[in-house]
Amino acid sequence: DYRRYQPAPQIQIENRTWPNNTITHAPIWASVDLRDGNQALLEPMTVEQKQRLWRLLVKIGLKEIEVGFPSASQPDYDFVRWLIDNGEIPDDVTIQVLVQARKELIDRTYEALRGVKSAVVHVYNSTSTIQRERVFNQDREGIKAIATQGARWVMEGAKDYPEVDWTFQYSPESFTGTEIDYAIEVCDAVMDVWQPTAENRCIINLPSTVEESTPNIFADQIEYFCTHMKNRAGAIISVHTHNDRGCAVAAAELAVLAGADRVEGTLLGNGERTGNMDLVTMAMNLYSQGVDPKMDLSNPDEIITTFTECTRLPVSPRHPWIGELVYTAFSGSHQDAIQKCLHRQGEDEHWQVAYLPIDPKDIGRDYQAVIRVNSQSGKGGMSFVLERDYGITLPRWMQTELAPLVQKASEESASEMGSDAIFEILKANFIKSAEP
Ligand code: KIV
Ligand code: ZN
Repeated sequence: DYRRYQPAPQIQIENRTWPNNTITHAPIWASVDLRDGNQALLEPMTVEQKQRLWRLLVKIGLKEIEVGFPSASQPDYDFVRWLIDNGEIPDDVTIQVLVQARKELIDRTYEALRGVKSAVVHVYNSTSTIQRERVFNQDREGIKAIATQGARWVMEGAKDYPEVDWTFQYSPESFTGTEIDYAIEVCDAVMDVWQPTAENRCIINLPSTVEESTPNIFADQIEYFCTHMKNRAGAIISVHTHNDRGCAVAAAELAVLAGADRVEGTLLGNGERTGNMDLVTMAMNLYSQGVDPKMDLSNPDEIITTFTECTRLPVSPRHPWIGELVYTAFSGSHQDAIQKCLHRQGEDEHWQVAYLPIDPKDIGRDYQAVIRVNSQSGKGGMSFVLERDYGITLPRWMQTELAPLVQKASEESASEMGSDAIFEILKANFIKSAEP
């Protein structure tokens, strides 16, 4: 019964500015594949799988990578040690580790990080109304005290390792279910402990731990937060969206319009329940708008292979930007339009091809898959594949006569028609046999 549920509350914000903004540069990306993504797997990654995924993340250019929860998991601890002891962390990459606001766990986290050059120590506690009232049975002051005490332990722990370039990160977990003024109060209190400056900022990471609203409400929450917090200059505002309503990417994009500097997510959106924000999709969204995504996505097939081998999860053929079928047209009118546009597309002009938002070649896909023929296709598609694979350019009258024969064959076999099958139909019906 839908009446059991209630709408997410609106944020009282006047003259919101985010709808008038555009994204002109990539945010700071942070991968949480090896932590949040890993925590969501039926079979968490082995150290070897983590090593493989780590190398891929570095290769595609991620500079901030959350590598685990070392105080809570021995494999995570061992993985952090492997990274440090084997010199696997490039100078321009910073690892991040998650920890609850508990002293013994924070101490063990610093132990795991011994010898690192730089790292983000990410402390969190839940702040939402439901968590306060129904899980922790604590009032607002009690929950705020957990956050500030955690912040103090994190700061004190770092003092034992002065040679390391530390960054502190705090997440009010379940932020989107937290009264906005209270979320600001808690984060301000954490920042009062850390005393960050514009030159030495902390990270305040605002998660939609569970996606509960339309992305415009999340954007309002971010804009309100950024404009009402005490020390905006001292914080990198980060967002961490989950995909319960299928809008994690949209929410992160609108959050960037609303002032977020940094976005956490995972490759192909692996993560708890419906997943985390998909870094590949958001980066490709920027790319297709002419914005440098600051990630090298020129080889998505390598990403898919490593992803499936490490997570044991399949990738949908309809996955935005990189799925096997996303540059394929079966429909006749689409095929016709694509063919015409590809013929007219000049080398030095902006991409203007109907039904293809980017040139598939940019991500290592050829035009082979762009036009495939089945019973939904028409003469445009059929002649495109004959020209491409056999160098045959059919006159229009022949296209018109051949198309229904191909369509009928496809209907009868209920399957795709490859160029070889189309060529056989052409031969059988239009080429006179030399035999008597
Ligand atoms: O989804 C979430 O709230 C988290 C936090 C630990 C940042 O993963
Ligand atoms: Zn999360």
